[in-house]
Parts: sequence; C-alpha cells; structure tokens
Amino acid sequence: MSQTKMTRRDFLKLTQNALLAVCGLAGLGGVLRYLSYPSQPPAKTEFDLGLATDFSPGSRTVLSDVPAVLIHSQVGFSALSLVCPHLGCTVNMTSNGFTCPCHGSRFLPDGSLRNGPASHPLTALRVEVNSEGHLILFTG
Ligand code: FES
Repeated sequence: MSQTKMTRRDFLKLTQNALLAVCGLAGLGGVLRYLSYPSQPPAKTEFDLGLATDFSPGSRTVLSDVPAVLIHSQVGFSALSLVCPHLGCTVNMTSNGFTCPCHGSRFLPDGSLRNGPASHPLTALRVEVNSEGHLILFTG
C-alpha cells in the first residue's frame, strides 16, 4: 500500500484552487442572478385624466399620478411638467408660479424661467381630448 505524502506546496496549491473555485461559483451565481432579473416594463407615457368637463375653465390642477399640472385656460388645455429642469426635483405650485424646493429656481405661471439656477423653462406636455371626451396627457 503506497501512501503519498502531501507537501506544504501541494497543500497551498490545493487551497488556492479551492478558493478560486469558490470565488468562481460565487461570481457565476451573481451573473446568473443578474441575467435572470426580470426587466421592468417600459414607463407609462400616456395618462387618461378623465373627462375634460371635470376640469373647470381657469383651473390649474396638480396631477396625482404624474408630476405635472393641468391648466385649463381660455384657449384650452395645456400641461406643464413639474420636474425641475435643473436637477430633477419636483417644483411646487404657488400663487405666483412655481418654486423648486431644492435650489430655489422660480418659474412664472406659464412655466417660463424667472430665476435659476435652472436654465430652462418647465417642459410643456401634450394634452389631447380623445373621442370619448377624456383628456389624455402625453409625457414622452
Ligand atoms: Fe430645481 Fe435645482 S433641482 S433648482
């Protein structure tokens, strides 16, 4: 019966290979978990706001599902994004326009820039009335 003696070098090599195998399996598990992660559905870009007749002339309605305000003026419906063009905070509607709570940019009631640091006005969003009389807001 032959007995092989493991040298210190053999032991270290065996340990090194075992550690490499464990690390490889752990990495492979991470890759598999990443690849099996369900992708998110595309973000919604159309929103049914309900009947146009529910929004009285002269109203300015901050929407609950979308960071936007719906404006019903004498010329019809329009909408402004409430996402600050500076760094993306949600601006607040005030009695004389909009104010960003993050860095203080101010916008006039029509969304135009009053003072920065933002360098652009609020983004106008498209609003249409469909054949059933519902307002459809487009964000994309
Ligand atoms: Fe609005 Fe900076 S994010 S002013």
